[in-house]
Amino acid sequence: MDWGLKNRLSQIIKPQNNRALMLAVDHGYFLGPTEKLENPKKVIAPLLKYCDSLMLTRGVQRTSVPTSTNVPMVLRVSGGSSIIGEDLSQEEITVSIKDAIRLNASALAMSIFVGSKYEHQTIVNLGKLVNEAEEYGIPVLAVTAVGKELGKDARYLSLACRIAAEQGAHIVKTYYCDNFDKVVQSCPVPIIVAGGKKIPEIDALQLTYNSIKGGAVGVDMGRNIWQSENPVAMIRAVRHIVHGNATVDQAFKLYQTLRNEKTQQTKPQHKSNQPTQTKPQHKSNQPTQTKPKPVANKK
Ligand code: 5RP
Repeated sequence: MDWGLKNRLSQIIKPQNNRALMLAVDHGYFLGPTEKLENPKKVIAPLLKYCDSLMLTRGVQRTSVPTSTNVPMVLRVSGGSSIIGEDLSQEEITVSIKDAIRLNASALAMSIFVGSKYEHQTIVNLGKLVNEAEEYGIPVLAVTAVGKELGKDARYLSLACRIAAEQGAHIVKTYYCDNFDKVVQSCPVPIIVAGGKKIPEIDALQLTYNSIKGGAVGVDMGRNIWQSENPVAMIRAVRHIVHGNATVDQAFKLYQTLRNEKTQQTKPQHKSNQPTQTKPQHKSNQPTQTKPKPVANKK
């Protein structure tokens, strides 16, 4: 692997602990103005300093991210369908490698739709994107998108992740599922977990915890952060698990503390007695909670 590619990968998956916290804000590429992401600039601004990288489209990057940022960009380069169109799987590569380089992308992201009508097209496009990106030392993240009719179980997700890795993807994004460790074990490249539909904060923290416990390097989370009642508190709680090895309870307490502080600030007559827990409590790379609890994660 070339120096440039390794260097870019290390911006996304932190070499100190082999963990990654990506903030996903690319939803508009097929969903349009997604609820609570209507104004990406406002959403991104307070969250930027808490993520390791930002997953987005070139349109949002150019219009809504300050050029002064040091946060690495994972640029979505696929698209071509919409939520009201005929088939979401009919995607092509829409961004040239030259434009990705102009945007200083640290990685390129695209979806493959295994088991769908346009499976062939999207898998071939992944191979072609890897060919081009490797020339410039840019890693490719493959998103294993799931058609409505397909179950998100370990058998299907293992198939999709393995195919992505075989085509040369350097990171694969997928969903958490029962027997998730089997998905991880049969995929030779790092796996990162998508958050999925908004669920209660504690469940999203459990999902984060379970994903890491199951062998993922981290999460690429969107809706469960910026659709949260308190997005900053939520991203900091997720970070507490990903980089602080916190348990779900510890992370949820941090979420509540930060959320309550915000509430107190809006009522100046009361001062919060709650300490803000910002530092990781555990130094080990393994989260301390031993048994992952099940989590509802329906997209
Ligand atoms: C959309 C994506 C999103 O980035 C991904 O689904 C993560 O966002 P969320 O946590 O909201 O699911 O790739 O196709």
